Amino acid sequence: MATAKNQAAWLMKANTPLQVGDAPMPTAGPGELVVKNAAIALNPLDCHMQDSGVFVQQWPAIFGCDVAGEVYEVGSTVQRFKKGDRVIGHAINLVSGRPQDGAFAQYTVIPAEKAAILPDAISFADGVVVPFALEAAVCVLSLQEPGVAMPGVATPALGLPYPSLQSVPASGKVLIVYGGSSSVGSMTTQLAVAAGTHVIAIAGAHNFDFSKRCGAAQVFDRKDPSLVDMVVEAIDKLGLPHFVGIFDAIATPETYTHDLAILAKLGGGHLACVHPPPTDVPANVQAGMIFAVNDIAAPVWKDYVTPALQAGKLQCLPPPHIVGKGLECIQGGLKKSKAGVSATKLVVEL
Ligand SMILES: NC(=O)c1ccc[n+]([C@@H]2O[C@H](COP(=O)([O-])OP(=O)(O)OC[C@H]3O[C@@H](n4cnc5c(N)ncnc54)[C@H](OP(=O)(O)O)[C@@H]3O)[C@@H](O)[C@H]2O)c1
Repeated sequence: MATAKNQAAWLMKANTPLQVGDAPMPTAGPGELVVKNAAIALNPLDCHMQDSGVFVQQWPAIFGCDVAGEVYEVGSTVQRFKKGDRVIGHAINLVSGRPQDGAFAQYTVIPAEKAAILPDAISFADGVVVPFALEAAVCVLSLQEPGVAMPGVATPALGLPYPSLQSVPASGKVLIVYGGSSSVGSMTTQLAVAAGTHVIAIAGAHNFDFSKRCGAAQVFDRKDPSLVDMVVEAIDKLGLPHFVGIFDAIATPETYTHDLAILAKLGGGHLACVHPPPTDVPANVQAGMIFAVNDIAAPVWKDYVTPALQAGKLQCLPPPHIVGKGLECIQGGLKKSKAGVSATKLVVEL
């Protein structure tokens, strides 16, 4: 039998185009899988990594976070998967720095505890939109204690329950998701709602339906000049006992201004952000930044993802926009990602 050959889209140094070339064939260590990738997704983080080399620990680098494909090799101690299984998974080059842990390759190593079987009815291109956003969403919602996102910046600790496969009663908790049409914002909406949380989303008017499809109970227009007052009024009217706070999936000076104005009117709460939060927050605001690689997501990967996908409770949203087939298409996809997307995830098929 011919030995498989690997290829990758390499970053030779910061701020240069990716170069497709041969790569060592990875092997699965204990607790790991090697996945033969059929689809990979692109994230804004990839553009930052390419431009600045941030998080790169070893040059040349292979990065990328989302894979979908077939299990090619199973490491010792792994019980849940076998060769040939269709899976989605979160590749963690971001923290390990190892090139074999980057998604932008034909074969990628992923931790088995950050993988789940993809039901046959779901295509690889659809499934690959889930992994990184899912882990980010669990990091937003379910940490019980603040950890360290980066030196001097704490992670948020909203302490909300994991999503449930059952229909759970409304918990009376209310969360604002700023950026309800983004990949991380929409996934956070889905998981929060599946834990009984009432989600109020902020999104573009053209994405109201999309946010509602993810489970948001109410959506407000990001461009409405009365945004702050409308959101506060909606929460007051609900009369629900537990306002949790805001997840800001956009995290710009503009959104921070709105966040702090809303929290000031509501008497404080959590402010969970995808980037470092504002430093000058009042004492009644618990601000933090997520770091989306965390063992907290392991039970969700293990017990929730596959049955929830099967039942349609977890939807592969935002839908993929396929930018091409082959590793050569990643560079063009990253250019598109930098230009910005609306309620979609850019995907390259292999
Ligand atoms: N810290 C971490 O661990 C971590 C993990 C994952 C992602 N991130 C960061 O999180 C951010 C989001 O990533 P993503 O992949 O979810 O992004 P994305 O899907 O590419 O975000 C695009 C969406 O954001 C919406 N949007 C843009 N500006 C907005 C605003 N002011 N108000 C409301 N919605 C707005 C757009 O809506 P329109 O259609 O209206 O334009 C669009 O639908 C990125 O900066 C990424 O680097 C951080």
